[in-house]
Amino acid sequence: LAALHRRNLLKETDLTPDEFRALLDLAAELKAAKREGREERRLTGKNIALLFAKTSTRTRCAFEVAAADQGASTTYLDPVGSQMGHKESAKDTARVLGRFYDGIEYRGAAHDVVETLGAFAGVPVWNGLTDDWHPTQSLCDALTMREHAGKPDEQIAYAYIGDARFNMGNSLLVTGAILGMDVRIAAPRSLWPSDAVVAIARRYAAETGARVTLTEDVAEGVRGVDFVHTDVWVSMGESKEVWAERIELLKPYQVNADLLALTGNPQVKFMHCLPAFHDLETAVGVDVHEQFGLKELEVTDDVFESDASVVFDQAENRMHTIKALMVATMVQLDA
Ligand code: CP
Ligand code: NVA
Repeated sequence: LAALHRRNLLKETDLTPDEFRALLDLAAELKAAKREGREERRLTGKNIALLFAKTSTRTRCAFEVAAADQGASTTYLDPVGSQMGHKESAKDTARVLGRFYDGIEYRGAAHDVVETLGAFAGVPVWNGLTDDWHPTQSLCDALTMREHAGKPDEQIAYAYIGDARFNMGNSLLVTGAILGMDVRIAAPRSLWPSDAVVAIARRYAAETGARVTLTEDVAEGVRGVDFVHTDVWVSMGESKEVWAERIELLKPYQVNADLLALTGNPQVKFMHCLPAFHDLETAVGVDVHEQFGLKELEVTDDVFESDASVVFDQAENRMHTIKALMVATMVQLDA
């Protein structure tokens, strides 16, 4: 952990497997400390900027509550509330905010913006989601799987089903590879992570013993897994025009009771970074029921609300893992 002081987290590959695991251990410790009323404030006097070019519920609130628990203060800049992206470059914004703040969170579209902030801020920069990576979600997802699997990381198997060429698909593929897990992507080939991302995962797998599988076959993808993850079929920033085409492509990949049964594991758990379209028909701008015969999108309501679903444990863990990240990168901890 000592080596994480002053470092950025812009994507999962910024962490070595040992560092990734150490952050999860710290998050578990901080979670227990909070629950037991023995949290120590390690960030007193620190100031944190939360720069959001896209909207958020969990990520913003996780940073704010984690900072408050640890004695730090935050400034939230909303998608239109700062000069950045309108009148000022990322490079200049980084150099200004770096003079005021001890750490900067950024959420936006193009990943190179967060890389620029990270290169010029002079203080730790954390990626709170870009189109390519969602590393604070990965930390949370890994902690949640550890808690629910109750077995070593290397024995955990999970599948990510759905649109896998965006932040969550990329992040979950690489995370499983870093942690030595059995990680599968089940998606139409056109929605698989890029060759470059798959190559990163395979490189880690050679080192960590992870098993990495990409398939179009749902049954192969989910057989025997401990966890089934999915995400929205159309992400923030994508055109509403793509909904119809995406629903057509992903209909066979909806996470429903039949899909969970294909795992053959009665203990299988369902995970979703949220927000989820499990009970909406109209919000997406096409009549999902009329046009596609579906009542729900990426996950059915019965799965979402079932005992298999750990989505709110997962949501809670955003806060504990983000707290660990801030503590480890803003404070010099002992090894
Ligand atoms: N999972 C996640 O990042 O949620 P928000 O968009 O609400 O931050
Ligand atoms: N893929 C989703 C994740 C939201 C947390 C998006 O980018 O909108």
